[in-house]
Amino acid sequence: MTISFEGKVAIVTGAGGGLGRAYALELAKRGAKVVVNDLGGSRDGTGHSDAALQVVEEIRAAGGEAMPNGASVTEFDQMVEMVAKTREAWGGLHVLVNNAGILRDKSFTKMDPLDFEIVVRVHLLGSAYATKAVWDLMREQNYGRILMTTSPTGMFGNFGQANYGAAKAGLAGLTRTLYLEGAKYNVRVNTLMPVAATRMTEDILPGEAFKLFAPENVVPAALYLVSDEAPTNAIVGAGAGVYHSIWTTMNQGVLLPPDERTVEGFAAHWAAISDRSHDFTPGSGGEQAQMIIGMLQAAAKG
Ligand code: NAI
Repeated sequence: MTISFEGKVAIVTGAGGGLGRAYALELAKRGAKVVVNDLGGSRDGTGHSDAALQVVEEIRAAGGEAMPNGASVTEFDQMVEMVAKTREAWGGLHVLVNNAGILRDKSFTKMDPLDFEIVVRVHLLGSAYATKAVWDLMREQNYGRILMTTSPTGMFGNFGQANYGAAKAGLAGLTRTLYLEGAKYNVRVNTLMPVAATRMTEDILPGEAFKLFAPENVVPAALYLVSDEAPTNAIVGAGAGVYHSIWTTMNQGVLLPPDERTVEGFAAHWAAISDRSHDFTPGSGGEQAQMIIGMLQAAAKG
């Protein structure tokens, strides 16, 4: 099976370097017309450059079609304008890869509230704004593929990245709800959790590992998750050629009798409440609530 993007129009945010550039190059190689969005800032989000234009030139030199866009994902109006310009130039829009990101790492003790806010703004609000700007169109045309980018920090935590972890966990939550709202309209929403050697990780991944974690190893997962064949509501990890799925699980729960619904009663049952031997993944928050009601009904029947 060949996975083609012929006839598709894609926006990749933060595609002026690193992972976004790798996605944009491969999308274009497979036939997509690509908007290379990037304001070209430094790793902490300050400054501007023509990074987007450079990637567009690379794509054009390889025979592909692309246009640069220097908008900031943090400005909703600019996202709306980017989408309008894309439609004007190419008539449609099928794929959005929310990839733009910055880092302001510090222990929480030393973290300025503004460093918290700006990181949440770029990753979480930026992805929500770009998605909001494409959402109605994707619903109307009954086709859309949206990819969010979380990180191991968002899923599992990492010292010194409270701002980043909070923003990245939020993106998984955004996916979990948007996939439900998009399902009827063939709008599929997935999340990627990459590990790659880019300027974001150059001081984290040691020399040899840096080579193993080439961004190109993440590309197969990213492109599959925005292809015609894409699943929906998947969270996929990708790094150095290893690919996996991540799930949010819960256990069956314990129904405490009314006289044990005290702090002491809860403490006495903590081992069972936190037991993971029968973990499962509810399909939605509604399903989780249904499960509680089911337990109450079963208990009422005795
Ligand atoms: P990168 O720093 O090379 O790429 C991020 C790009 O986003 C930069 O080109 C930057 O200019 C752009 N950008 C930043 N703020 C922007 C804004 N407001 N509007 C438009 N563009 C903006 O880093 P990398 O590694 O390629 O990161 C890509 C995504 O992958 C990020 O969301 C990052 O958090 C995520 N990620 C990366 C991991 C890795 O191991 N490299 C691990 C987990 C997640």
